[in-house]
Amino acid sequence: MTTIRNIRIRKILDSRGNETVEVDVITDNGLGTMSAPSGASTGIHEVDAFPKKGVDEGILLFKKKVIPKLLGMDARDQLGIDGTMKELDGSPKLSNVGGNIIVAASVATAKASADALNIPLFMYLGGRFVKHFPYPLGNMIGGGKHAVGGTDFQEYLVCAIDPSPKRTIFANAKVHKAVKKALATAMPNTPLGKGDEGAWIAPMTDEEALKLVSGVCATISKEVGFDVRPSLDIAASSFYEKGQYVYKKGKKSPKEQVKFVAELIKKYTLHFVEDPLEEDDFAGFAELTDLVGKQCLICGDDLFVTNKERLLEGIKQGAANAILVKLNQIGTLSDTMETIKVAHEHRYKTVISHRSGETTDESIAHIGVAFGCHAIKTGAVGGERIAKLNELVRIADYLGL
Ligand code: PGA
Ligand code: ZN
Repeated sequence: MTTIRNIRIRKILDSRGNETVEVDVITDNGLGTMSAPSGASTGIHEVDAFPKKGVDEGILLFKKKVIPKLLGMDARDQLGIDGTMKELDGSPKLSNVGGNIIVAASVATAKASADALNIPLFMYLGGRFVKHFPYPLGNMIGGGKHAVGGTDFQEYLVCAIDPSPKRTIFANAKVHKAVKKALATAMPNTPLGKGDEGAWIAPMTDEEALKLVSGVCATISKEVGFDVRPSLDIAASSFYEKGQYVYKKGKKSPKEQVKFVAELIKKYTLHFVEDPLEEDDFAGFAELTDLVGKQCLICGDDLFVTNKERLLEGIKQGAANAILVKLNQIGTLSDTMETIKVAHEHRYKTVISHRSGETTDESIAHIGVAFGCHAIKTGAVGGERIAKLNELVRIADYLGL
């Protein structure tokens, strides 16, 4: 029933118009399809998305070397299949076949099993008894590498905190609209554009943008009757140069950066701050977590790159209290599950996440629910973002939430 009979791979477009891949895994009576996203502010410790020679080279190798070995395997043997793909790639960063191809095949395998068993992916992954539905973290104002001419910080997010998934998703969309209105009032003569994740681009200072988003959060929280809290992805590695954080208006030393972020967290009662320091500064993360980790989630994205070994190093040093989870940073579903397990064992919160270049694939909605992630970062609007949000609504319906 779950024996793999055929695997197909094709090149498709992502939301930025870049090439990516989609993989179909076909069993006797099941079909699973997954397409891989890609980042713009990628961490240096992530696996490689595609081989150096490009997507076509990876597809060629996958067809020649990997598919023949997977045919006939049982799609339920996720560990075996992921292990086989990693072994056939043979490099530590999956740079021969490419992490994006391997991750698409890995998740498509789980989806094919779920389909053959006639259950939704989140159920197949053990989510029937889920107690916590992930809160949506949506990007409202975008800067950094996602939006030319915007803020230094990459993402001004909001997190709606309520047990009802439907209420939270619609609250985030309300904030997105209200932020547009607030920006138009604050800068009536500036044309408003959107960045890669559908967030507004605002030529403002970081504090101006934070103040605006936080004001809108207060208004919408009152209106909806639950907390909608401001949050940030600073993506500090993207403006870290030679030991300093280089802002449009001046530089900060790592010590000053810790102090600055701690003050912002207190002043704006932030719920979540991602990558406040550059991607190798475990000690700086530990210092900040020590200062404000009780009131705010300090999250490692580029710091941990969904890698269990890097997470364990963080746990040892007390760096951060949350981890961002992106499947294509590590390359397989089973490695992703393992990292989430370690995080939860050590009381780190997990936040499953989209990438800035996305497809309409909805898998992360299922994975976030199944593994009890604290939140799901997947934008607030735009076709490739609502593909995940609307899937969450469907899952909520299925669970009667
Ligand atoms: P990326 O960035 O998908 O462009 O790498 C998103 C993030 O930093 O969270
Ligand atoms: Zn990030």
